[in-house]
Amino acid sequence: MPINITRRRFLAGTAGLTASTALPPMAAAGASLRLRAAPGKINIVGSDYPDTEVWSYGDVPGPEIRIKQGERLKVDVANGLEQPTTVHWHGLRLANAMDGVPDVTQAPIAPGASFTYDFTPPDAGTFWYHPHVRSAEQIGRGLYGALIVEEREPPKVDRDLTWVMDDWRLTKQATIAEPFGHMHDLTHAGRMGNVPTLNGALIETVTVRAGERLRLRLINVANARIMALRFKGHAPTVVALDGQPVEPFSPEDGRVLLGPGMRADLVVDMQGDPGSRHEVIDDAYARNAYRFVTLAYSDEAPLRANPLDAPVVLPANPLPTPMADAERLEVVLAGGAMGGMREASFKGETVGIRELVRAGKAWAINGVVAHQTAMPPLFTLKRGRSYVLSVRNDSAWPHPMHLHGHAFRIIRRNGQPAERPHWADTMLLAPEETVEAELVADNPGDWLFHCHVLEHHQAGMNSLVRVSP
Ligand code: C2O
Ligand code: CU
Repeated sequence: MPINITRRRFLAGTAGLTASTALPPMAAAGASLRLRAAPGKINIVGSDYPDTEVWSYGDVPGPEIRIKQGERLKVDVANGLEQPTTVHWHGLRLANAMDGVPDVTQAPIAPGASFTYDFTPPDAGTFWYHPHVRSAEQIGRGLYGALIVEEREPPKVDRDLTWVMDDWRLTKQATIAEPFGHMHDLTHAGRMGNVPTLNGALIETVTVRAGERLRLRLINVANARIMALRFKGHAPTVVALDGQPVEPFSPEDGRVLLGPGMRADLVVDMQGDPGSRHEVIDDAYARNAYRFVTLAYSDEAPLRANPLDAPVVLPANPLPTPMADAERLEVVLAGGAMGGMREASFKGETVGIRELVRAGKAWAINGVVAHQTAMPPLFTLKRGRSYVLSVRNDSAWPHPMHLHGHAFRIIRRNGQPAERPHWADTMLLAPEETVEAELVADNPGDWLFHCHVLEHHQAGMNSLVRVSP
């Protein structure tokens, strides 16, 4: 097992490190840009530690791509790695050929080769990009970045900040702990790390100013860690989930829950006193709560006396409305340690759990363990028809299940109407939980439906949903 180091130990060497959280936006109107995936070095843990060898798109996170809703984006991706790669645009409803899934929507980009992605995202919101080849390792080594599609008329805020949140497993020398795809990670919670980062670094403080209104775009890019941020002394308003606008609400206990792959847009009025400090806690795992970062107020006089009196509601995206005659699609997730799955179908044969584990597999969707991304579809949907996707987690572990190319609306949990029905592209299911979501199958092609705990994805928790042409 990798060496276990605590955050405190790292923190001893990093006191005073302060975030420059404003990433320079890369793209302007109708953007065209180049990304190159390649080995690189960054300082993650602070100047008392050596730099960490990573794989990146130039930096970690990669350049923040920003376009306006309705604008076209062209990205030329070059592969400077020694293994194939692709780029998937997580959460975007785009043409199938641009989805970045190897052997399903494109041939993988070979080392030294490149591929041009070209699309116009229909929805405004907070999205992200990452490889879809050997995702556990490629994302785990630092290949990811934010993709922001701005509303034509965004709500008025003083600063719009993106927090790309990761969880690294590093050794005491700050190198990435090997191997990826450790058997324990595949069969349990995935690759949990020991160094939480904000925009690529273990950060002590984020400087804020009294009276300002922030829009915070949270993106959980961790391989496996679920995060639940609590902003002490503040009452964030959630305005979007997975990029899709919601009726603004203040979450219970000010706690924002994000599984891997998921995003939340928050509006936060900085109502603390100049010079004051407020912790942001991640207590997703109650017994392992830790301080993610501290909001440090500058000594400047408040920007304004009272919170900004401006609406925070985001304009709706052009999502298709599901109809009442929706057909039900039943999905059962099974496998993993302590899960009781005895056997499953693998490469067309019924295989016992021991043999599966020997093959590095541990998870099944409707009894099928995926051995590659290209596979027979789990469902074939009729284009334009409405469906209710009912997903039951019959395992002892949580799963953030992500569907490509569509947004779905979460309408029920465990048979009860959802407290707040909302659109999403990733649904987080606790053990034994059932989540129902409705969608219109309006985007033709073969789309992945998989767990975003990347070790579960690798260990078979992957399927394809086909939408007929
Ligand atoms: Cu963010 Cu199929 O993934
Ligand atoms: Cu999972």
